[in-house]
Amino acid sequence: MLSNVEDIAVRRGAAADEFTLRRPQAEDGRSVNALIAACPPLDRNSLYLNLLQCTHFAETCVLAEFTDDSSRPGGRSQPAGFISGYLTPARPTTLFIWQVAVSERARGRGLGKCMLLALLQRPACQHVTHIETTVTPSNAVSWAMFNSLARELECRLERRVLFERDTHLDGVHESEVLATIGPFAPRAASFAAKHRRTL
Ligand SMILES: CC(C)(COP(=O)(O)OP(=O)(O)OC[C@H]1O[C@@H](n2cnc3c(N)ncnc32)[C@H](O)[C@@H]1OP(=O)(O)O)[C@@H](O)C(=O)NCCC(=O)NCCS
Repeated sequence: MLSNVEDIAVRRGAAADEFTLRRPQAEDGRSVNALIAACPPLDRNSLYLNLLQCTHFAETCVLAEFTDDSSRPGGRSQPAGFISGYLTPARPTTLFIWQVAVSERARGRGLGKCMLLALLQRPACQHVTHIETTVTPSNAVSWAMFNSLARELECRLERRVLFERDTHLDGVHESEVLATIGPFAPRAASFAAKHRRTL
């Protein structure tokens, strides 16, 4: 049986002991929902949607918790980050990243990128050659993170508008730009192998 726990330090300098990464489960839905609500500009989701992500899509979602919180006597783990993703139905070699949320106190330590790389190590993603996501033009931090991921995977990041403000978003939401990262299949495989050795 596969372990549900992924303790992965995929970024040099990222504190492996600081965060515990694992697949989410239904019991995490409420805290995931609260985390996303606390991470503007992310769209707030219904609890029901997060419950589906934590169950039906658990293989392509990852939850990070502060390790310290769980080791504290009687303490409860707090979510430090969450990524929701799915294999694009018509193109299962593409992992679509729906949302990336890192709590304010965990930011700037490589956790966002670490979670993305952890997903690529999952058996469910063993055939994934591309990552896609949408980012609004003004979300500079998100662009920084995905550009950094493309550099780490040594592949291109291409952009094109996917959902346009007036045509698709009622003129009330910034256009959503599709970022496509890849292809990276052989590199991701060797990358995963390299980092497994550091566990
Ligand atoms: C975007 C977000 C997920 C980044 O999480 P994070 O864990 O702080 O990001 P990381 O530490 O992994 O940083 C990844 C890269 O982005 C860069 N970066 C992170 N924060 C940055 C900032 N404030 N300014 C400039 N660059 C930044 C880092 O330098 C790093 O690049 P490097 O690996 O080349 O050094 C987090 O800020 C967040 O949750 N924001 C609110 C929600 C959101 O906008 N989500 C993304 C849309 S899907």
